[in-house]
Amino acid sequence: MSESLEHHLQHPVFAAIAKAAKQLDQPVYVVGGFVRDLLLQRPCKDIDIVTVGDGLILAEQAARLLKPSLTVSTFKNFGTAHFNYEEYDVEFVGARKESYSRDSRNPVVEAGTLEDDQNRRDFTINALAISLNESNFGELIDPFDGLADLNQKLIRTPLEPADTFSDDPLRMMRAIRFSSQLNFRIDEITYAGIEESAQRIKIVSAERITDELNKIILSPVPSIGFKLLFNTRILHIIFPELVKLHGVEFRDGKGHKDNFYHTLKVLDNVAEVSNDLWLRWAALLHDIAKPATKAFDEVEGWTFHGHEFLGMKMVKPIFRRMRLPLDQKLKYVQKLVQLHLRPIALTKEIVTDSAVRRLIFDAGDDLEDLLTLCRCDITSRNQEKVERFKRNLGEVEKKVRDVEERDRIRNFQPVVDGQEIMDLFGLSPSREVGLLKNALKDAVLDGIIRNNREEAINFVVEKGRELGLQPVN
Ligand code: CTP
Repeated sequence: MSESLEHHLQHPVFAAIAKAAKQLDQPVYVVGGFVRDLLLQRPCKDIDIVTVGDGLILAEQAARLLKPSLTVSTFKNFGTAHFNYEEYDVEFVGARKESYSRDSRNPVVEAGTLEDDQNRRDFTINALAISLNESNFGELIDPFDGLADLNQKLIRTPLEPADTFSDDPLRMMRAIRFSSQLNFRIDEITYAGIEESAQRIKIVSAERITDELNKIILSPVPSIGFKLLFNTRILHIIFPELVKLHGVEFRDGKGHKDNFYHTLKVLDNVAEVSNDLWLRWAALLHDIAKPATKAFDEVEGWTFHGHEFLGMKMVKPIFRRMRLPLDQKLKYVQKLVQLHLRPIALTKEIVTDSAVRRLIFDAGDDLEDLLTLCRCDITSRNQEKVERFKRNLGEVEKKVRDVEERDRIRNFQPVVDGQEIMDLFGLSPSREVGLLKNALKDAVLDGIIRNNREEAINFVVEKGRELGLQPVN
């Protein structure tokens, strides 16, 4: 018998569940992710409870013991019930076994034993259970050597991979996600099973796929997950645009970077400095239009002209297909993809204040993130080159800070707006108003005038005259 985990189950929620189960004479266990995370010493607020019997009645009874006013939500169709107590989110289900009826291929879910329930789970490390029963409270029940797999950092299905994956093909992505998140290896037989069943990912909904993809993106070294997705060919189905980045073409002895591995390096670099999902998405998509814009020029070699603009255009259809938000987050990723070359471009010319002001204006509040992305985009085998680019970018950043300090241009609005321009010349909304507004913005950004009322009005009056307009007073 393994050591008792009783000391980890001191919270009153476990005592209440145990007591309720005893009163109802129903065996009860904590299972799944909570047990895994407890043994890995990772914080986990979701507790999954399995009982041999009715999960709904047990949930009601445990809730009553904890606090009579506690609300239990029940989902009768799924046979699950749920409540929140203090920091915990507790879900109850009756143990089940899955079998197929003779005349149809539809699974029939029947009541089962704890062992049946453990058999149906995705990985050995997620099939661990801890007893909450009086006779062996705190005992680990581990029929598939999940504890050994945890210690060896191994992802393995409890049954034949084909069976486990056909129950729910998303589990193939879960294997890859856990591998990336926990830095675990996928067992050879399980891995071969993923390669074999990869096509089946097609039947899974976009929302569920995207959930896993986001977890891979948020893992400490996301490239681990993406390489596994690529090698198992799941990526080819769920994200063909990324697969197109893979490979190197040579002409006249000249090759370009492999943009797939470059993208993954940039994503890993961003992951080292930021936990922001959307900045990580921007890293993943920054070069997405390189395959579509690739050309070979005798003099320049390989070029990808306009990939930042076309890339920006590609973001929305990808977000839509993946059911990602189409709000500010989309706009943010589009903006970063579109601007990702700008700071580096500034290192290649003599940096004028005007160019810096325009960058600050265009990036607005996302300027720091853009600079982070740019810094992370500097990848090369040649360390000397990396250092040189980083130094140059550092110069641009310094310049940005100087200009910011002086001109406060971020999110700038000219001190004279469209309405005032119309009042000044007695105009109704027209092309002239737009022209004058733009000219004013350019004059401020180019440093021709300072952004104060007097200079702005003088400038607009002057420009208006050039267009044949007269101020009304
Ligand atoms: N599970 C499964 N197959 C799935 C999803 C879940 O067998 N496709 C089982 C696993 O035993 C898992 C448990 O249900 O541990 C809880 O699932 P879930 O809350 O989705 O995931 P966790 O394993 O807790 O991990 P995370 O919270 O990181 O998603």
